[in-house]
Amino acid sequence: MAQNAERSTGDAASAPKKVLCLSASARPDGNARQMAEALLEGVAQAGHEGELVHLADHVTRLFGNCRECRNAEGFCTLDDGYENILLNKYVKADAVVYVSPIYWYGISGHLKNFLDRFYCYMSGGYPHKDAFIQGMMGKKAALLLSAEENSFSKRTPIVQHMIQLCEYMEHEFVGIAVTTANSHKDVRSDPNKPLDSARELGRLLFDIHETDYRLDTDRGPIIWQGDDSAYKHPAYWR
Ligand SMILES: Cc1cc2nc3c(=O)[nH]c(=O)nc-3n(C[C@H](O)[C@H](O)[C@H](O)COP(=O)(O)O)c2cc1C
Repeated sequence: MAQNAERSTGDAASAPKKVLCLSASARPDGNARQMAEALLEGVAQAGHEGELVHLADHVTRLFGNCRECRNAEGFCTLDDGYENILLNKYVKADAVVYVSPIYWYGISGHLKNFLDRFYCYMSGGYPHKDAFIQGMMGKKAALLLSAEENSFSKRTPIVQHMIQLCEYMEHEFVGIAVTTANSHKDVRSDPNKPLDSARELGRLLFDIHETDYRLDTDRGPIIWQGDDSAYKHPAYWR
């Protein structure tokens, strides 16, 4: 993809990649945030560059009616830190990790609002729409969740939602790690060791390749053979 070629410099295989973690909890020291920090440890171990943004500190305006919020030149006038995160961090990232508590069986409002506000830059009124859309595509994506309930079925709609969004943006969804947690220290006691999972997901982020077969996909009967890097790490579900 053109934007990927622009983003990568030098030897694409070995150049450090940029990973943006969007932490969307109301709590700055919550379980979701601790998962994000663990994931970024893994990113650093793999030689890549990570950054964590706590959305509540920067994005304070709600998505509005673009016809009213746009100025005469077509630019968004909502005066908070959103545009800086979107254009200077999100667009430039090679991977985006969405980090959210489950609030009422969905992602948090902080994350939903962040996604909703994409629209201001994707719609026809924005003068740099085409460049923006090009910059948004072709990333790796992952999800970290924190939830009080441990029910699998209550988590799957959120996973499905985010996978659908990733498909729309042509992002490769490579994995998820979840903690069952409520009090902010719970993540450290969770017997599934979610911090280890998040760290591992961060370390593997750029090595994971999700398969996506079609009826006529050329493939043999054996999945794990040799050092074929395409199959070294399957999608990560913890
Ligand atoms: C407004 C609100 C709604 C919540 N809704 C759910 C829910 O639907 N399902 C659930 O399992 N936990 C729910 N919880 C619990 C949080 O998901 C849980 O405490 C999580 O660990 C919070 O993440 P944090 O520690 O990063 O802030 C809710 C918490 C809040 C504050």
